Formats: sequence, C-alpha cells, structure tokens
Amino acid sequence: MSDPLVLAIETSCDETAAAVLRFPGDLRGQVIASQAAVHAAYGGVVPEVASRNHLAHVREVVEGALKQAGVSLDEIDVFAATTGPGLASALLVGSAAAKGFALALDKPFLAVNHIEGHLLSPFFGRAEIPPSVGLVVSGGHTLLVDIEGAGNYRLLGRTLDDAAGEAFDKVAKLLGMGYPGGPLIEAEAASGNRTRFEFPRSMKCSGDFQFSFSGLKTSVRYLLPKTSEADRADLCAGFQEAVVDVLVHKAVQAAKECRRKLIAVSGGVGLNARLRERLTHAAESQGIAVLFAPNALCTDNAAMIAYVAALRAARGERSSLEADIFPSLGTSLFAAA
Ligand code: KG4
Ligand code: ZN
Repeated sequence: MSDPLVLAIETSCDETAAAVLRFPGDLRGQVIASQAAVHAAYGGVVPEVASRNHLAHVREVVEGALKQAGVSLDEIDVFAATTGPGLASALLVGSAAAKGFALALDKPFLAVNHIEGHLLSPFFGRAEIPPSVGLVVSGGHTLLVDIEGAGNYRLLGRTLDDAAGEAFDKVAKLLGMGYPGGPLIEAEAASGNRTRFEFPRSMKCSGDFQFSFSGLKTSVRYLLPKTSEADRADLCAGFQEAVVDVLVHKAVQAAKECRRKLIAVSGGVGLNARLRERLTHAAESQGIAVLFAPNALCTDNAAMIAYVAALRAARGERSSLEADIFPSLGTSLFAAA
C-alpha cells in the first residue's frame, strides 16, 4: 500500500491516545488523554481504574484526532492498535475499538507491539530504520535491542525485576513525592550531591545486558530511617546517578559488542537530562552517536504506534481480526538469539 493513512489507538497503560498519520511521518492529528492524575492518588496505575477510563475516553480521542487531521473515518486506510504488552483489561479497549472500525469499514487491521512503538520512536518520520542499538527505558520496560532494520530485532537484555522508570516511581513513593516519580526526582536531584550516598550499581559488571533495579530501591528504603527531609535532594541525586550509571555503561557496551555506531533511546526515562548528558558523552567518546526520541514521543502516545503501523502497512502487512491481546512481553517481536 503506498503512503497509507493510519489511525492508531493506544490504551496499554494509563494514557488513552489516538493518532492519525500519513506514511511515513506526517502526523496529522493526535489526542492523548492522560489518567496520571487519577492514578496519582494510589501512587501507581490501578488496572481496573485504567480500563474504565479508557472506555470513557476512547471515543473522544479518536474523534479529536480525526478532527485535527481533517479527515473522516472512511478516509482511513488502516486501523491499528497496541495489542501488547500492557494491562490486559486496558489493551482490550483500544484493540476492540480499532478492530471494530476495521470490520465495519472493511479496512485492514494492524496489531502493534507497544515495545516496537517505543523502539522506533527515535526514528519517527523516517521511511527506513538504520542499524543501531535501541535502549528502551520506560515505566514498564528496560530493554537493550540490536536493531538490524524495521521488523528485524534481537533482544540483548532486559530487567530481571523493576524497570528503570518503575524504580524512579517507587523511590519517589518511598520519599513521599508523588507520581510519576521520574520528573520529580530529576528536579529534586538538581540541587543534590550525587556522591554523598553510594548506591549499588546492580549487575553493572555482570558481563551481559541484563538489568536489576529492585536492590537499589531497597537500599533507599534502608537509608530512609537514618535520613531527614533535608537529605532528600542528595538521596535523589545519588539514586538517579546509580540508575544512569548502569544504563550508560550497558548501552555503550552493547553498541560496541554489536558494532553499531548509533544508540537510539526511547521511553519516559529517556527524558532524563542526566541520562542524556552522560550517555551522549560516553558514547561520543567511543565514536558512537546517540539519538533520543522527540520529547513528545518519550512517554506513551499513539503517534509512535501509528508510525510502526504505517511502516508495516507500506510493506503490505496486515493482522488477523482474531489477533489476541498479549499482556506480557513475550518474544514474538524478537528473532531468536
Ligand atoms: O514510556 P512511559 O510512558 O512508560 C511506559 O510506557 O511504561 O514513561 C513513563 C515513565 C515513568 O516511570 C516516569 O517516572 C518516567 O518514565 N519518567 C522519567 C522522567 N520523565 C518520565 N524518569 C526519569 N527522569 C525523567 N525526567
Ligand atoms: Zn510505554
């Protein structure tokens, strides 16, 4: 299909989003209804609350994206939705909506992997995906991926417990700071001393590309009774440095081992200025370039899902209307190692 016009719906976690995009990167409209404020009261995302909110907002985000794009539903060539990984009851809402449109209008449906959305977001708008190493650092995932080209990925490593963003969120909760924790910790860390508290760099020297962040969170918990409000900035700065240190070390090692000259960073933690500064510096000293996803595409959105769908639709792919949701990461996205 040449230059397909895609409508994509994203409901994998706590953002209800829809986007209209013309291949490869003409984003004609996007509406994101964030539920962050609803979940803030609980200090994290509550699946049942998320799915109810997706149901309440899916129609208005689709209508809003179409209106911005100035197109009607029957002008859309392909309907896409995130079908995993994510919260099962949340994924069902977006995927049922997109399948319903495809069925009613007799148009193709494309099931998109949320991780592929993040992974390719640094390349948003390009018709070709260059060989590179992808670092996906979001609230739900921490992955290093060797990217040969569009649709050709090899998983190098992932977190064995908490994701990097999840660690930021949990530490912020421990410190009574609110949700989502990443931006709050980053702001607090700006006035802190990075070296006063030495936090563990779990698995930094494990020789592979796996991660572990839950021990770091436990160290913060043990330190808490011995500290006061006045130590908060130093705690945040020390914690952030430990996360960044491991991410930078492993991402650069991965690029060297895979002989890639480019690291592509995506996901909410990719917004972190300390990560950007240290990764850019460490990679460039090895002759490796770093490309970050555009800020607006770091946290969950439907534009990145529409982009993946457009690349695949242009290659003639389509999914079965019977394609089920898949809540956990699985391995279908990746070639066998
Ligand atoms: O990509 P995203 O929407 O998550 C998932 O798809 O799972 O990103 C949200 C995550 C949250 O954990 C949030 O705390 C983190 O990204 N985050 C940050 C920053 N901004 C958002 N972490 C560190 N520093 C930031 N500036
Ligand atoms: Zn995400």
